[in-house]
Amino acid sequence: MHDELKHIENAAETEIRAAKTLDELEERRIQFLGRERGALTLILRQLKNLAPAERANVGNEANRLREKVERLIDEHAAVLRSSARESILERERIDVSRPGKRPPRGHLHPLTKLIREIEQIFLSLGFAVAEGPDVETEWYNFDALNIPAHHPARDMWDTFWLRQKIPSTKHQDPNKSKIKNLETPRLLLRTHTSPVQVRYMEKHQPPLRIIAPGVVYRYEATDVTHEIQFHQLEGLMVDRDISIANFRYVIEQFFTRLFGKAMEVRLRPSYFPFTEPSFEVDMRAKGSKGAWLEISGAGMVHPNVFKAAGLNPKQWQGFAFGMGIERLALLKWKIPDVRLFHSGDIRFLKQF
Ligand code: PHE
Repeated sequence: MHDELKHIENAAETEIRAAKTLDELEERRIQFLGRERGALTLILRQLKNLAPAERANVGNEANRLREKVERLIDEHAAVLRSSARESILERERIDVSRPGKRPPRGHLHPLTKLIREIEQIFLSLGFAVAEGPDVETEWYNFDALNIPAHHPARDMWDTFWLRQKIPSTKHQDPNKSKIKNLETPRLLLRTHTSPVQVRYMEKHQPPLRIIAPGVVYRYEATDVTHEIQFHQLEGLMVDRDISIANFRYVIEQFFTRLFGKAMEVRLRPSYFPFTEPSFEVDMRAKGSKGAWLEISGAGMVHPNVFKAAGLNPKQWQGFAFGMGIERLALLKWKIPDVRLFHSGDIRFLKQF
């Protein structure tokens, strides 16, 4: 019996310490102390077969061994628990000094970015940024710009007219619409940004330099270069002696800064009711023998426009220009289809 106890003690010492998990340790506990078949239990059960003197002896020894085994198990359990905690702590460690993950963010629409860039260029040339309403009166969009009703020039702009709540028989006669403020004005979606010229000159005395970027509307079929709704950039510079040479300089500066390389322009005679003389503006990289690209309409402000805005055309002169902002964007970024800008396609937008 004594030898058996010694054997159990040796086995307990090595095997309990070898347990790698709390589950394994529990198996060891059952192996030595289990109530059914534990090695020590079996010994204690045999005590009754021993002579009384021997019984007390072995009994004491067995009890001490049971206490030792229990202690070994408790100690090793503590070791296993703390190393388990350490590995969890290690695994779940948070390095608070690491940079955070940025949540995904959107950005400005490419056309908005372009408009802001355009504004910066003109601001640096001393221009202010002006605005007018998208819903315009017939007066500002046409009459004040020297385009009376029934004038063939009105066909240059396919117009969205607004259906108006209070139909007035008075403005059935379109000739009367030029009599400003005398009757309910006919409303439309502005077909160009030129009405902002008139609105601005009504409120500001020259010298003046403005651009007016904004949305315009045309009642037209859409294709790769045309949308019914697009942006225009209007420009206006008025003083006592502004000339076409001033215009040339400003517009060349603008294109050069926008496209990031020296640009040159060519003016071809054209017609707009609100400028005289009028031009089409073509541009190309300076010194290149490449094709001229038509990019803008322009001209010297017509005396009738000054008069409509309340300025004396004998005192003031200036240039005006207007161009499509989407067209600038297509050229700047070499984009084939203007409809991409309003497609909402994230794969397209992400590239800007
Ligand atoms: N408003 C004209 C258009 O929409 C462009 C233009 C503006 C032409 C100013 C001359 C001067 O076509």
